Amino acid sequence: MALLKISDLKKGFGSGDSRLEVLKGVDIEILQGEMVALMGPSGSGKSTLLNIIGGLMAADSGQIQLKERKYGKKGPSGVIDVRRNLVGWIFQDFHLLDNLTAVDNVAMSLELSGLSSAEAEKAAIDALEKVGLGDRMHHIPDQLSGGQQQRVAIARAIAGNRPVLLADEPTGNLDIASGKEVMALFRELCHDKENPVSILMVTHDPDLAAAADRMLLLRNGKTEASDIRSAWGLDAEEITEGGEEE
Ligand SMILES: Nc1ncnc2c1ncn2[C@@H]1O[C@H](COP(=O)(O)OP(=O)(O)OP(=O)(O)O)[C@@H](O)[C@H]1O
Ligand SMILES: [Mg+2]
Repeated sequence: MALLKISDLKKGFGSGDSRLEVLKGVDIEILQGEMVALMGPSGSGKSTLLNIIGGLMAADSGQIQLKERKYGKKGPSGVIDVRRNLVGWIFQDFHLLDNLTAVDNVAMSLELSGLSSAEAEKAAIDALEKVGLGDRMHHIPDQLSGGQQQRVAIARAIAGNRPVLLADEPTGNLDIASGKEVMALFRELCHDKENPVSILMVTHDPDLAAAADRMLLLRNGKTEASDIRSAWGLDAEEITEGGEEE
């Protein structure tokens, strides 16, 4: 059974002549331990879809089932538990607090979700070790590279054992090497034998998307299974014609 099942999800913005239908019936199933890349043209609704799954925005219709929890049309105040316990976020620009050390950045979000300081610190240390930052716990963001800062953000997202991570262009601010490291870490987290997470990540980079188990293309309000070629808007024929034979 799918860990995350999205059924006929619809979302538009505005009204009357300026109404824009963005998601027109999105269906996606993601298994536990799957790493899925979401691609699609700018403005196609990738962030909108992630925001609804993450409990930051209500859909107009349709349903999301994440483990036992069903939601979709509820606004942010109706899905506090989804944000606290079920979904971790990773953003392009890390969203770390400048004056807090790595361990405090991770521990703070756990304290906000109700853990005691001692429990939060222990879970934060575990998460930072898992992302390979055991020796950078007490550094503040300015003392870390971009790739390391993103790993702190990933530790924050996995701390508290959230089953789903949503990553909106997580490598957008990283150099190529750090971007690849983040993908390798995502793969490790998804394919972990003991406690696999599921990741849905948006990327514009087909090379990075290729690290995922599966690619989805969001186009004209719907998602379809994809490979690198169709993500570029090429069909197989064009690729053969432009081919390698010359
Ligand atoms: N709160 C909002 N109010 C009105 N329109 C919105 C709102 N949020 C998004 N939109 C519109 O919905 C469409 C999809 O936006 P979204 O940010 O989801 O696209 P995206 O696929 O993430 O694009 P990008 O690749 O540029 O990040 C866009 O046309 C956008 O202008
Ligand atoms: Mg976006």
